[in-house]
Amino acid sequence: MRDTLTVISQRKSVRHFTDREISDGQVEVLLRAAMAAPSAKNKQVWEFVVINERSELDRLATLLPYAKMLSQAPVAIVICGDVSKNTEESELNWVADCSAAAENLLLAAESLGLGAVWTAAFPYADRMDAVRQITGIPEHIVPLCVVPVGHPGKDEPVKDKWHPEKIHYNQW
Ligand SMILES: Cc1cc2nc3c(=O)[nH]c(=O)nc-3n(C[C@H](O)[C@H](O)[C@H](O)COP(=O)(O)O)c2cc1C
Repeated sequence: MRDTLTVISQRKSVRHFTDREISDGQVEVLLRAAMAAPSAKNKQVWEFVVINERSELDRLATLLPYAKMLSQAPVAIVICGDVSKNTEESELNWVADCSAAAENLLLAAESLGLGAVWTAAFPYADRMDAVRQITGIPEHIVPLCVVPVGHPGKDEPVKDKWHPEKIHYNQW
């Protein structure tokens, strides 16, 4: 098991997968990590749709222009927010909550030696509609992203994102 900081620094988007399946146990590890995320007022407004049927993954791949790798992935997890649980003064908190859950899930995938990539649904109406059409999620559930997961099909480089000039102390 690699330590947390190593996993964080080694995480990268993986867009090529082998045809090896991932187990239900691995999917549960990913979902447990996602649900361990922080959330505003601990409301945990996230909901998850696990897609593991080949035909459904392929149909999504045809409808989502930036998620073609779904046609290779054995599983995809759609991370959604339940906007009926939003309060008026915090109508976008679901995005923050679900983003925290998504990052936890990506880190858990890296930790398991799996590959994953965040592909956007929100805020693009056409992509959200496509996800709605394929998964049948109800109106009050909004899809944030679709995360294909699988065994990496090739080594993806880790990008160097350390930019100290982006850090400001006390004043800009
Ligand atoms: C909000 C958001 C939307 C993204 N949408 C897509 C997408 O639709 N398709 C895709 O292939 N990657 C998508 N990505 C992945 C980014 O391209 C990727 O994280 C970025 O290039 C940095 O690379 P890294 O993840 O390997 O560090 C998205 C990432 C975020 C955070």
